[in-house]
Amino acid sequence: MRKEKIIFLSAEDIRNLVSMKEAIDAVESAFLQLSYGKAVVPMRTTINIQEKDATSLIMPAYLPEENQISLKLINLYNQNPEKGLPLAYSLVILADGETGKPLAVMDGGSLTAIRTGAASGVATKYLAREDSSVAAVFGAGVQGRTQLEALCNVRDIKKAYVFDISKEKAKNFAEEMGKKLSIPVYVADSYSVLQEVDILSTATTSKEPVFSPEFIRPGTHINAVGSYKPSGREIPEEIVSKAKLVVDHRESCLEEAGDILIPIKKGLFDESHIFAEIGEIIAREKPARENREEITFFKSVGNAVQDLVTAKIAYEKALRTSTGFTITL
Ligand SMILES: NC(=O)c1ccc[n+]([C@@H]2O[C@H](COP(=O)([O-])OP(=O)(O)OC[C@H]3O[C@@H](n4cnc5c(N)ncnc54)[C@H](O)[C@@H]3O)[C@@H](O)[C@H]2O)c1
Repeated sequence: MRKEKIIFLSAEDIRNLVSMKEAIDAVESAFLQLSYGKAVVPMRTTINIQEKDATSLIMPAYLPEENQISLKLINLYNQNPEKGLPLAYSLVILADGETGKPLAVMDGGSLTAIRTGAASGVATKYLAREDSSVAAVFGAGVQGRTQLEALCNVRDIKKAYVFDISKEKAKNFAEEMGKKLSIPVYVADSYSVLQEVDILSTATTSKEPVFSPEFIRPGTHINAVGSYKPSGREIPEEIVSKAKLVVDHRESCLEEAGDILIPIKKGLFDESHIFAEIGEIIAREKPARENREEITFFKSVGNAVQDLVTAKIAYEKALRTSTGFTITL
């Protein structure tokens, strides 16, 4: 009998194999495919596990151009961080689009962090002012780290601030990311520092807006990745209402993004307030930033195409470098 082999890649393998720059380029291409009918991506399945304060997401994708199929299972357990465990555990399966043969199984937590950072990297590349040099991140967790890394990849960031409800987490983040990115990273002691900030990413577990609207100055670019449920949000509605609103995927955001759905429900704007999908901006079908004063806002709930293209980089590099270990099916 034929013995099929697949590769297993750990979190450390993924981090060694996929650079943020490669992920940004791949996710940019994935967003183009998504916006132009070249992706087969059913809406993800959400299992609410109320008694455990948890959500399980099942996210499939097929990209004909990549000739691959992927499937991610990501389990988000809100009480995990208090137990010293990661908020999310995840696995990704990558399969060949030609025969359906499974190619690899890999850690989905590290992959998700890289591809979510990369999504904000793509949006920031197109929407932030060219001369942006000061960044801020809300949420000193797993996603916050790759958010800052991505911002530093697409703009010449000279200084960053971190905000977190836990001072200790913020301090650890500042020390670690300052060293990693070779820039000063400060724990923000007041919201007034936002007056210096050019680019802001929110990657918190908060269900309420994480700052007041008056602190945001004209010309700021905002990425929000933290909330993915209709009832939760990170960005104040006053900012969403006046910003140029760009999304990863219209249909998904209109199903899941509280940052958009709550103001719609309040009658502050309707669906037409979504200016574009990021894919339409990349394709130059819709204009990116039009002046130095506008506030641009990228809302991303995360899409399975990001997982597929990032998993593909990891798999192909693993083959070239003999990384990971092989399992026989
Ligand atoms: N959009 C996407 O594609 C995507 C992908 C992965 C995760 N997420 C979401 O991103 C969020 C963060 O995930 P993570 O893995 O980094 O979690 P994490 O637990 O590692 O970090 C979250 C951090 O947010 C902080 N925080 C909570 N409320 C805050 C507030 N009001 N102000 C400042 N900081 C606050 C927490 O103290 C914690 O340090 C989660 O809600 C997760 O579901 C989104």
